[in-house]
Parts: sequence; structure tokens; C-alpha cells
Amino acid sequence: MRPTVAILGAGAMGEILAVGLVRAGWSLDEIVMVARRPERAKEAERMTEIRTILDPVAAVNGQDVVIVAVKPKDVPDLLDQVGEVITTDHLVISLAAGVPLSVFEQALPGVAVIRSMPNTPAAVAEGMSAYCGGTAVDEDAFARADAILSAVGETIRLSEDLLDAVTAISGSGPAYVFLLAESLTEAAIREGLPHHAAEKLVDQMIRGAGILLQGSEKSAFRLRGEVTSPGGTTAAAVHVLEDGGFRALMEDAVRSAADRSQTLGEQAAADVAARHPVPTEPGE
Ligand SMILES: NC(=O)c1ccc[n+]([C@@H]2O[C@H](COP(=O)([O-])OP(=O)(O)OC[C@H]3O[C@@H](n4cnc5c(N)ncnc54)[C@H](OP(=O)(O)O)[C@@H]3O)[C@@H](O)[C@H]2O)c1
Repeated sequence: MRPTVAILGAGAMGEILAVGLVRAGWSLDEIVMVARRPERAKEAERMTEIRTILDPVAAVNGQDVVIVAVKPKDVPDLLDQVGEVITTDHLVISLAAGVPLSVFEQALPGVAVIRSMPNTPAAVAEGMSAYCGGTAVDEDAFARADAILSAVGETIRLSEDLLDAVTAISGSGPAYVFLLAESLTEAAIREGLPHHAAEKLVDQMIRGAGILLQGSEKSAFRLRGEVTSPGGTTAAAVHVLEDGGFRALMEDAVRSAADRSQTLGEQAAADVAARHPVPTEPGE
């Protein structure tokens, strides 16, 4: 049986997941979304046809799974709002970048919590979600989380210490590809191609290269070699990229995203710790 789902945070990722669940067979009355502003609620409901309300407590009550889809900085406030009504019967799936499982476990003792990092290609059911589970998560809870996340693409279970790196690779990664697409389209226009042709060439090239990379048994290195004849046009371009520090730049970019993920998590953890101080024994 499909679990009923409350999505707290009707923003970009919340909407993508909600629409993905409906596409995967969930009925509209098995999902509820929560916004914090009436105009956002109206817009989200218009876009998704999914009931979108302003009361997270009412949304959580009676649902099997609670998905946290607010920004990391908004997690502590949200936990204050729903902490009392989330019980050990719920499964919580957080999408919040960087926010560690311990933050949820401190605010929701005994509750099964999954920390996940999806990405926006989930909008076309081609997402990549990595996830890990807290101490109260059993195999049944992992299976339920996997069923939800795989409604919008591929999934992989990893240990929590890898989730900041995942955020920097597949979570933020679509933006790197879109930046590449932007840059290539601009370069194509500078080379004299009309705008519509430049976009078509770049979009289909990225799609084709992605499908080839995923479907082939050859590595990215070998596939690149097959496009690069010695002394040819691709070799000339790759030489410029390598000379300009492309690899080092990529490594620095990824490291910077992973560091940022960690910082966001630490900020949320400090905020939640200040709100839920661990009681000390008298005399300590
Ligand atoms: N976008 C991505 O590529 C991506 C990928 C992986 C993971 N994520 C994670 O997914 C989460 C959401 O990201 P997003 O890009 O979807 O952000 P977003 O578009 O800003 O959506 C977050 C939504 O949550 C709402 N919200 C905040 N506090 C709330 C509360 N207490 N009750 C109800 N609604 C509340 C916000 O309301 P307002 O409209 O009033 O601000 C906003 O509409 C983040 O934690 C992010 O790290 C995002």
C-alpha cells in the first residue's frame, strides 16, 4: 500500500517531488503540501493540483511520511512547529542540504529519520537521490523511503559522512551542466550560429552525451578519447580547457559546495541545540 505523504515546504523541490509522486501512481488525496504564505499555497496548488495548506500540524496528522522540503535555515522553526505532533509512527524524510540526522533526532527522539539529497532532474523522473538513515530506521523504513525517492529517479543508499559530497556532486551538479550549456550557447552565437540553432545543438549534444555515458560500458575518459583525434579540433579545445585549469577549477567548485553544505548543517545544528538543550543532572 502507498504511504500517505505530507510535504512541508511547497517550494521548488517540494513541488517536484509532489508531482513525481502523482506521476508514479499516488492519488491526489494521498498527498498534502504545506506553504507558509497564502499566495505561495495558492500558486503551488494551481501548479500541482495537490491540496496545499498553511498549517503544518494539520498536514502531519494522519500521514505516514513527512517530507521536510524547507531551506536548511528554516528547519529549526519547522521542527518547533511540528515536533510535538510527529510520532514514532511517522517516517521523516529530510531533503535539507547539509542538515545532519542528529538535528532531527535531537528534536524528534525515537522517530525514524532519513536524510536525502535529491536533484532537480527529478522533475522529469530522471533525478538522483542519495540517502542515509538514522538510528530508528529499520529495513522497512528504508524500503518506504526508497519507494518515495525512486518515484522521481534513481536512488543510492550511502553513509551519512558522504552526503555533503553528494550535495556538491549530484545535488548542485545540474547547475554546473546548465552553466556549461549557457556558456556553450553563448560561444556558439559568437561563432555566428542563430540563437535557436545554438540552443538546439547544445541541448541535444548534452542529452546525447549523457545517454551515451550512462548506457556505455566505456568510461568517460575512453568516450572522450573517441572524440579526440590527435591534432584534431577536439584536441585543440581540450588543450585550452586543460591549460586553463579546468580540472582544478572543478575540484575547487565541488569542495566549495561540500564545505557550504557542512556549514549550513552546522548552523542548523547549533540553532536546534540552543532550542533543545540536553538536560544536565543536578550538581553537574
Ligand atoms: N533546489 C534544489 O536543487 C535542491 C536539490 C536537493 C535538495 N534541495 C533541498 O530542498 C530544500 C528545499 O529547497 P528548494 O530549492 O525547494 O527551496 P524553496 O524553493 O525556497 O522552497 C522552500 C519552501 O519552503 C517554504 N517554507 C519555509 N519554512 C516553512 C514552514 N515553516 N512551513 C511551510 N513552508 C515553509 C518556503 O516558503 P517561502 O516561499 O515563504 O520562502 C519555500 O516556499 C532545501 O533544504 C534544499 O537544500 C534542493
